[in-house]
Amino acid sequence: MMLQINSLSQYQDEYRRSIEHPEQFWAEQAEHFEWHRKWHTVLKNDFITPDVRWFEGGRLNITENCLDRHIADKGDKPAIIWEPNDPTGPSISISYRQLLAQVNQCANALRSMGVSKGDRICIYMPMIPQAVVAMLACARVGAVHSIVFAGFSAKSLSDRITDTGCKWVICSDYNRRGAKDIAVKEVVDEALSLEPNLVEKVLVYKHTNKTTCWNPELDVCWQDIVPLMPEKCAPEIMDSEDMLFILYTSGSTGKPKGAVHTIGGYMVFTCFTFINTFQYKNDDIYWCTADIGWITGHSYGVYGPLLAGATTLMFEGVPNYPDAGRFWQIIDKYRVTQFYTAPTAIRSLMASAWDEPDKYKLDSLKVIGSVGEPINEEAWHWYDEKVGRGKVPIVDTWWQTENGGIMITPLPGITDTKPCYASYPLPGVQPVIVNQDGKILEGNDVEGLLCIRFPWPSVVRTTYGDHERCRTTYFAPFPGFYFTGDAARRDSEGRYRIMGRVDDVINVSGHRLGTAEVEDAINSHPEIVESAVVGFPHPIKGQGIYAYVTALHDVEDKEKLIREVLQVVTEQIGAIAKPDKIQFAPQLPKTRSGKIMRRILRKIAEGAPEQIGDTSTLINPECVQDLIDGCEL
Ligand code: PRX
Repeated sequence: MMLQINSLSQYQDEYRRSIEHPEQFWAEQAEHFEWHRKWHTVLKNDFITPDVRWFEGGRLNITENCLDRHIADKGDKPAIIWEPNDPTGPSISISYRQLLAQVNQCANALRSMGVSKGDRICIYMPMIPQAVVAMLACARVGAVHSIVFAGFSAKSLSDRITDTGCKWVICSDYNRRGAKDIAVKEVVDEALSLEPNLVEKVLVYKHTNKTTCWNPELDVCWQDIVPLMPEKCAPEIMDSEDMLFILYTSGSTGKPKGAVHTIGGYMVFTCFTFINTFQYKNDDIYWCTADIGWITGHSYGVYGPLLAGATTLMFEGVPNYPDAGRFWQIIDKYRVTQFYTAPTAIRSLMASAWDEPDKYKLDSLKVIGSVGEPINEEAWHWYDEKVGRGKVPIVDTWWQTENGGIMITPLPGITDTKPCYASYPLPGVQPVIVNQDGKILEGNDVEGLLCIRFPWPSVVRTTYGDHERCRTTYFAPFPGFYFTGDAARRDSEGRYRIMGRVDDVINVSGHRLGTAEVEDAINSHPEIVESAVVGFPHPIKGQGIYAYVTALHDVEDKEKLIREVLQVVTEQIGAIAKPDKIQFAPQLPKTRSGKIMRRILRKIAEGAPEQIGDTSTLINPECVQDLIDGCEL
């Protein structure tokens, strides 16, 4: 196994070594994998253009490292344990040997459909093992997967399919979530009707017995072809810097961009960070609740654990179905050792069923984790006391889609933990805090903008089809550094606390959304002239969405227009982007150059109008009081 840190002094030594000799450090980690040809250059470090390459010249296939490599000594070990939405339904355990066979069958099916190296394939699936099989099958044949969270609308799906030029889509017929079955295939059909002739084939896994619409020209039934394929499939041998996947994520401006991750560096970093952050041991049962549609699902639901030869639990359903004890029941049922979830889930379970964990043993847990947004102090303590029983370390892990893997986190049982603090950087991660001018703030007890000053193996390589956007978003703001978009504070002992985004990105229930995308969606309603969206503190979601909306005419039926606006946002993006509050505003506060002054709108939505400050640069300062009076809080 690759380096697993097990003491504080070892962490300090390895951290120092990883900073002083990063290439040597990461080359040693990379040695633990199977390469068809070894790299000739460990790192090409251009953090300006940017053009970062890790393990260049190396040739490999990541699925051999996730699967084939483990067969000799772990062939019968469960790779995936699947718990269905319905608690009375049968769970499924898939061994490494079975998973390899299924991936190979699916890979052969993809090849039979004409898929080859470099092709992009869109996956729009629920949390079922076939989603993992589909992902790995893409990687087996050298295709690039682009997974779209199955809660996104047909329009979002169509935009992503178009942007990546996917000619194949893999989906299910229905998704089961809680008491509802969601007709996913219908969403795919609608997406394809928005952009006809782009997609050649849709591979549909029939997850239910329900009938679904069928287009014989396009649709291929998974069950009709995949199980008939040979269980062996020669992997496509890839270059270390070939693309592994594209994952769309929101930024401050424009449409979501496709973050590109490449094979070698991502493989080494996700495996290393998995083993260390969760202090993984051979017989552990590890559970990450994130959907595979998000980066956490990619890196810590699938790639990290499988690369490490771990057993990863996959849960189809939702935390509150059939009741708010479902997570705790699953932990006891499988004797889960590491549990990794999001603050929003913790807060909602805390609000709906404070004492519910008391009914369960939860004594198998060794590490509990949090990811995706700041975990507030109250939620941290509840998680610690009710779930961890005061003796299981919490890893509050900070990282981003563009990072590929965990960057800042406590190491359980090794470094200390402190509520609200993601704490210390992992080896190879060099965070710096800078001021607005890009000057590094040295020493402790400082607060500013969080940047990373040296490439780590899974840093985003580009944004698909638009390298300039990658440069301007992450690398141009502070030349020589990767800019995270987050503010952070370093305390007197060098721990990092993430303070939240400093750009127009909001984090709603751990889902990252750009205010501009939500505004564009709202503005597509014919009655709306313009809108401005800001985040506001929300007890469960972390941040809620507050929309100020200017209508074309006097609004007679406010409720009706609100319903329509919510509908249009659901259609354009998905239900996750629906505003929590909508305030009709005849005017929005603007500067002379016509820019909306969001600072003011944020303060009103936060319920702190007394902090608005100077409004003298507005062309319409009089509207501010109207906005305060009409606030929907
Ligand atoms: O603001 C930070 C917040 O989530 C953003 C990244 O979102 P996304 O790319 O969707 O990835 C989420 C899962 C890796 C960051 O810029 N964030 C993530 N983790 C934390 C966090 N904020 C505070 N504490 C965290 N542990």
